[in-house]
Amino acid sequence: MNEMSERAQFVTRLGAIAATVGSAVGLGNIWRFPYEAGEHGGGAFLLIYIVCVFLVGIPVIVSEFVIGRGTHKNVSGALKQVAPGTPLHWFSYVGIVASLMILSFYSVVCGWIVEYLIQSIAGHMSGHSAAEYSAIFNNFVSSPWRSMLWTLLFLLLNFLILRRGIEKGIERVSSVMMPLLFLILAIFCIYALTLPGARKGVEFLFVPDFSQLTPKVAIGAMGQAFFSLSLGLSCLLTYASYFQDRDSLVKNATIIASLDTLVAILAGIMIFPVVFSFGAQPEAGPKLVFEVLPNIFQQLPGGYLWSVLFFLLLFFASITSTISMSEISITFFTEEHHMSRTRATGLNTVIAMAFGTLCALSFNVLGDFKILGKTLFDLFDYVSSNVLLPVGGIFFSVMVGWYINRTFVRDQLTNHGTLHSWVIKPLVFCIRFVAPIGIVLVFLYGLGLFDGLL
Ligand code: PHE
Repeated sequence: MNEMSERAQFVTRLGAIAATVGSAVGLGNIWRFPYEAGEHGGGAFLLIYIVCVFLVGIPVIVSEFVIGRGTHKNVSGALKQVAPGTPLHWFSYVGIVASLMILSFYSVVCGWIVEYLIQSIAGHMSGHSAAEYSAIFNNFVSSPWRSMLWTLLFLLLNFLILRRGIEKGIERVSSVMMPLLFLILAIFCIYALTLPGARKGVEFLFVPDFSQLTPKVAIGAMGQAFFSLSLGLSCLLTYASYFQDRDSLVKNATIIASLDTLVAILAGIMIFPVVFSFGAQPEAGPKLVFEVLPNIFQQLPGGYLWSVLFFLLLFFASITSTISMSEISITFFTEEHHMSRTRATGLNTVIAMAFGTLCALSFNVLGDFKILGKTLFDLFDYVSSNVLLPVGGIFFSVMVGWYINRTFVRDQLTNHGTLHSWVIKPLVFCIRFVAPIGIVLVFLYGLGLFDGLL
C-alpha cells in the first residue's frame, strides 16, 4: 500500500489522455500518414487503416493498459508480477532497447525541427528560391556539427521536462501542448480549405482508388498504425501504470486511437491543399517538410506566421512523443535499479545522446558506415519499426489474451465489475485472435518474406 500511495500518477483524467495522445501523435501522423494515404489509394487506404486501428490497434493498446494499470509498475516489474517465477520479464528489454533506438533516430529529426523553428522565428526562412531551400536542408544535414548540436539540444529539452516527473513534467507539458497542437492544426485546416488547391488536395487524400489496394498496402497500413499508435514497446504500458484505478481503459484506448487517427487525417487536410495550390508534388519524408513547405509558406500571405506555427506544431507533436519513449527506461531504472529520477533521466539522456549523435552523423561523416546495407539511422528505424514493435505487439496481446489470469484481465477491463459494456466481448476476441494473427502478417511482411508473393 505504501509503495502504491507513493508512486506518481497522472492527477487528472484529461492529463492522462493528453499525455497518451501526446505519445501517439507525432511525426508519424503529421507527414508519414498523409503521404502514405495519398499515394496508396486515398480513401481506400484510409478505410483499411481505420479497420487496422480498430481491430488490431485498440486491442493492443488495451493489452498494454491492462498490464500497466493492473500492476502500477514499470514494464519489468509488471511482467514479474503477472508472470511470477518465469523468465518472461526478460522480454522487457525488447521494449527498453526499442524505445532507446527510436528515441535516438527520432531525436535527430526533432533536432532539425528545432533548428527550423528557430530559423523561422528569426525570419530566416523566407526570401529563398525552391533550389535554395533544398540547399539549406542539404547543408544542414551534411554538417556534422549542426545536426549533432541540435539533436543534443533537443534531448536536453526532453531531459528538462522528464526530470520534473510525471505530474509536473509529462502531464503538465502535455496538457498545454496538446490543446495548442489541436488549435494550430484547426487553424491550418480552415485556412488550407480556402486555398484554390483545396479540392485537389482533399481528393488526393480521400477519393478511394481501390485499384491501388494491394495486400502489401494493406499490411503497410498496419505497420503505420503500429508506429503511429506507439504500440508494442511498452510505452503505453508505462503510461498506463500512472493511470488511476477509476479510469476506464477501454474508453481511454478508444479516445486515444480516435484522436490519433483524427490528427493524421487533419494533417493531410492541412498539407495537401497547400501543396497542390502551389503546383508542388506531394513528396514523402524530410523533403516535403523541410524543403517544399518552407518554400510554399513564404509565398502565402502571412508566410512568416505559417512557418513558425507549422514548426511549432511539429515540435509539440514530437517532444510529447519522445518524453513517452524515454519514460519506459526511466521508470525501469528508478524502480528496478533504485535510481533517483534525476539520475535515471540523466542515464536515459546520455544513452540517447550517444546513439543520437551517431544517427545524426549517419547523414554526413558516418554516411558510409553501414550495417546490413543501412546507415545507423535507417537501421534503428528498420529494426525497431519492422521487428521489435510487431514482436512486442504479439507478446502483449498473447499475454493478455491467453496467459494472464482471466480475473485479473476482467477486473482491469471492467474496473472490478463496475463498468459494463458490450464492447468487451468482441474486444477480448480481437486481443486473442485478430491482433496476434494480424501482427504476424505485418511482421513477416516487414522482414520481406512476402516480397516475391505480393
Ligand atoms: N507514435 C509516435 C509517432 O507517431 C512515435 C512513437 C513510437 C512514440 C513509439 C512512442 C513510441 O510519431
